[in-house]
Amino acid sequence: MTAKPFPIVSRIAGTGHAVPEKILTNADLEKMVETSDEWITTRTGIKTRHIAEPNQPLSDFATEAAEKALKDAGMSAKELDLIIIGTVTGDMKFPATANIVQARLGATRAASFDIQAACSGFLYALEMGDSLIRGGRVKNVLVIGAEILTSMTNWNDRGTCVLFGDGAGAAVLVPTEGNGSGVLSTYTGSNGKLAHLLYCAGGGSSAPGMNRDIPSEEFTIHMAGNEVFKHAVKTMGDAAIEALERAGLDSGDIDLLITHQANIRIIDATWKRLKLPREKVYINVDRFGNTSSASIPIALDEVRKQGLVKSGDVVLFVAFGGGFTWGSAAVRL
Ligand code: ACO
Repeated sequence: MTAKPFPIVSRIAGTGHAVPEKILTNADLEKMVETSDEWITTRTGIKTRHIAEPNQPLSDFATEAAEKALKDAGMSAKELDLIIIGTVTGDMKFPATANIVQARLGATRAASFDIQAACSGFLYALEMGDSLIRGGRVKNVLVIGAEILTSMTNWNDRGTCVLFGDGAGAAVLVPTEGNGSGVLSTYTGSNGKLAHLLYCAGGGSSAPGMNRDIPSEEFTIHMAGNEVFKHAVKTMGDAAIEALERAGLDSGDIDLLITHQANIRIIDATWKRLKLPREKVYINVDRFGNTSSASIPIALDEVRKQGLVKSGDVVLFVAFGGGFTWGSAAVRL
């Protein structure tokens, strides 16, 4: 009798990230708005963030992160079937930044599109790439989370401008036999009834850029920080548990937790809810701030390149963002 073949799932074959050179410190922000290093550090955990130059397009960072991920995977761009970018700050309203990256990489066989799910964008893209590989529709997928949030930051609003940073992270997904490795589970969800708590309306069809009566603040991020905070804490914990259950795991199986890096207090609440020891949690919000959809793939690339994870380790990802949207995934590396 021949053994039943394992189903095809996806695994992460390579990662890369890219951030702007320029660094904005809390001391710099003290000169711009009424704030202090002490307030920012205790309320958010952020010390520095990388900031793109004005008019520097997102595709610069997304392409650099993608090239590094392809090199890490030992793959040519011509082998890609699909490129998905999670972003809310693409180069243009259209075409998709994924189309621009496809051309710059020379990924001539690849379809490409963007997903808009704010800070959950990378995990939404990961779920889609994984699903298409599992379904046999594609083989090699480049999944990117990339953001220049400072392009929509109100530098007069101390409640938001201290939080955000720019950058991109990428992962190459390839098919593998699902014998307990690869992407074990994914989970995504949303609640658009709470969209008004975190949004940027300007430039959309409800507030077109060509209408000069629209105040410039409408082209920046609006956030009810306190409300977002409460929902983020509850939902990130719930979503993390859902991904574990879908994978048939419990928190004792987790080797490393990588959450969306929005705020140290949200990250702390999530690992405490999962009853994880602090040393199983990766944190880089202090150096990058909130880079939205880029934060998880930047962190993933750092832990792989620093040797903080090894083949066979289980990494749990969880994110929450504007929309509201949320996502989680359990992956055996
Ligand atoms: N410096 C000094 N004081 C400040 C600053 C600042 N930068 N910002 C706000 N304050 C003041 C407020 O004005 C307020 O003063 P008051 O009491 O005199 O009115 C006081 O600090 C407390 O303000 P809160 O908003 O209640 O502060 P909180 O502890 O909630 O922290 C923060 C604010 C950091 C924004 C927090 O609410 C947060 O992290 N929220 C979640 C953000 C998030 O996770 N977003 C996720 C998704 S982002 C995306 O999708 C793009």
